[in-house]
Amino acid sequence: MINPDHQFELEFDARSENEAFARQCVSGFLLRFDPTVSELADLRTAVSEAVTNSVVHAYRNSGKGKIYISVRTYQRKVVIRVKDFGCGMEDPELCRQPLYTTDPTGERGGMGFAIMESFTDRVKVKTAPGKGTTVTLIKNLS
Ligand SMILES: Nc1ncnc2c1ncn2[C@@H]1O[C@H](COP(=O)(O)OP(=O)(O)OP(=O)(O)O)[C@@H](O)[C@H]1O
Ligand SMILES: [Mg+2]
Repeated sequence: MINPDHQFELEFDARSENEAFARQCVSGFLLRFDPTVSELADLRTAVSEAVTNSVVHAYRNSGKGKIYISVRTYQRKVVIRVKDFGCGMEDPELCRQPLYTTDPTGERGGMGFAIMESFTDRVKVKTAPGKGTTVTLIKNLS
């Protein structure tokens, strides 16, 4: 893989209050590329969805466990990885379907992956039950 032009990595506790922190870090880093307001908002939203999933699903809101984010850029292409070592998914294709949720409380709509897909150019999911999940969000800035 070619070396990225710019990159950073972040490790933080899987707690819901860190979701805003992660979103701010990513958007602060991306400001150097002078993204449009909507590009920045899209990536902030996509990162929030991925981080929330790691907090809520991967670590089941336990507050235990770590989330790792890396951002790499190749010219105007932005590649964001959100990684956890939580419960993983048995069937990632099913999990990506709109309205599919395993949330028992009825508070979640099953729209996180659909939002990530609509606000980026590509979403890749690598997951293994009991091992964890890496969600990769790719977006080309104008
Ligand atoms: N990091 C993860 N680890 C384990 N399971 C996950 C992870 N991310 C998503 N999932 C599974 O995929 C399902 C769908 O995720 P998605 O974000 O689309 O919906 P949701 O989180 O259930 O609801 P919403 O995002 O609308 O609040 C989740 O209900 C969960 O079962
Ligand atoms: Mg979600």
